[in-house]
Amino acid sequence: MYHPSDDSYLLIDYLRRNIDNTFFDGIKLEDIDSILDMGTGTGIIAIFLQHFKSFNSNFNARIFASDILEESIKCAKANEKLNQDSSKIIYLQSDLFLSFPKSLRSTFNIIIFNPPYLPSLPKMKEKLPKKKIDHSWDGGLKGIEIIIDFLKEVKNFLNLNKAHYIYFISSNRCKLDELETQIANLGFKHEKLEKTHIFFEDIILNRLQYSPD
Ligand SMILES: C[S@@+](CC[C@H](N)C(=O)[O-])C[C@H]1O[C@@H](n2cnc3c(N)ncnc32)[C@H](O)[C@@H]1O
Repeated sequence: MYHPSDDSYLLIDYLRRNIDNTFFDGIKLEDIDSILDMGTGTGIIAIFLQHFKSFNSNFNARIFASDILEESIKCAKANEKLNQDSSKIIYLQSDLFLSFPKSLRSTFNIIIFNPPYLPSLPKMKEKLPKKKIDHSWDGGLKGIEIIIDFLKEVKNFLNLNKAHYIYFISSNRCKLDELETQIANLGFKHEKLEKTHIFFEDIILNRLQYSPD
């Protein structure tokens, strides 16, 4: 299980500073119907959003949380109950969007993913099976494969008729140049919102909008 860390707080602190009673980072709150926290882990981001909803009557978005691990879903559900004494978040266990129902296509206004973003260790290159905890950090051989798989699918689940944002974390330890090329090729407008230096790496908060020309 991934314990919330600097990357989780980079995201949450940004959101905390950029959501108010009227706008979610510039998007009108009443225009937001559905938000997805992909790779929810302990549920910290989804629970933060659900908590914000509880004291803001303009904000009625459905909050979804998904993770590849059953353990994460169980943990997030328990944390929601512990923090809010309620079960309002909608949970999905899925490898990225693979098990999402078709009914969720074209629905999300906001999708947030704090993904595994570090390059695999040499033992992974030998294709040894992943342990569950490896899902927290192992982003593939170059550290960007899971993010790219996510980006290839994500536009199918965005509501492209309305304003939308994707937020995700990356690190300078992964192949950022290649990631940026892929982002542009897939038709996204890319902004780097914030960067912070932690021990051995810079972690970056990114925001995307689908805007093919
Ligand atoms: C860095 S942790 C982030 C956890 C939490 N969102 C946070 O910010 O503290 C990455 C999360 O993504 C999940 N994950 C990894 N690969 C995934 C995949 N293919 N599909 C869905 N979730 C995945 C992991 O199980 C883990 O919970």
